[in-house]
Amino acid sequence: MTATATAGAGVTPSLVGRTVHVKVPATSANLGPGFDTLGLALARYDELEVEATDAATHDIHVHGVGAGEVPLDETHLVVRAAAHAFARAGAPMPSLRIVAHNSIPHGRGLGSSGAAIVAGVMAAKGLLEGVVEFTPDELLELATELEGHPDNVAPALFGGLTIAWVTPEGPRHKKLIVHRGVSPLVLVPEHEMSTALARSLQPESVPHSDAVFNVSRSALLIAALIQSPELLLQATEDKLHQHYRAEAMPETDRLIRVLRAAGHPAVVSGAGPSILVLASDPSERADAVRLVEESADTAWQAMPLAVDFKGATVVDADR
Ligand code: HSE
Repeated sequence: MTATATAGAGVTPSLVGRTVHVKVPATSANLGPGFDTLGLALARYDELEVEATDAATHDIHVHGVGAGEVPLDETHLVVRAAAHAFARAGAPMPSLRIVAHNSIPHGRGLGSSGAAIVAGVMAAKGLLEGVVEFTPDELLELATELEGHPDNVAPALFGGLTIAWVTPEGPRHKKLIVHRGVSPLVLVPEHEMSTALARSLQPESVPHSDAVFNVSRSALLIAALIQSPELLLQATEDKLHQHYRAEAMPETDRLIRVLRAAGHPAVVSGAGPSILVLASDPSERADAVRLVEESADTAWQAMPLAVDFKGATVVDADR
């Protein structure tokens, strides 16, 4: 940390009663060829009030997505992430009162676990403001340690399009501004997909030619997203992950084929099962929605979402 905690044993007295408001965007990772590397922040949010208390236990209230499903004790992902940040700062973890209003779908490949982790880390940052300062690299490192890979937590933290990579000193990121013509559309099925299952379907090694294929497409994808959206269909081709996982999400695979055959740059969003279409204008989004309505066997929710350019925010709740 760039500064050390001044707290002694027990809850730092000045923290008790401090309340912060945290807002974290949804994210779509991979974007086709950029497995575990590229991510895009999307304008759909989880918002939380987090108060440091001196109560014996945490007091957690979840509204919206996850209500009645997620644990409400110290295993809650936001609490775990906040505790991780407090521990790294060397500051005693207070009990938390959390009121969460969630709108990021769970288990659909839209970065909900990354958002919860980022929410906890940002809550700790806000509660510890003036006591401990976290650098952007430290925030990314804390979040990546819990998430396992940086491609969702980087755009959730910093917004826009992010390239994330891992160094011996920890994960790093570069944020880029997406071309204003890019109009993301997310198509969300009713069923969930486990990231752990999706990752278990990946082979240990891939053919050299497939690696070269993805290097070319992921380099092209950066150019397409920031400068030349007309290249998005070619730039979103992938041989590293989507076809290995297709058997676990057959309808996602089939609809992506239908969309791509019609010229839409469609990819699996994160580990799936949602589909991300990186359309070049709003009318293309409407065409893609129509195509999915005609072709799908089950119900899919269409979410036209803007790119979020800001990333996660934390402010004092009374500000
Ligand atoms: N890159 C990750 C994966 C994103 O595809 O497994 C989902 O967490």
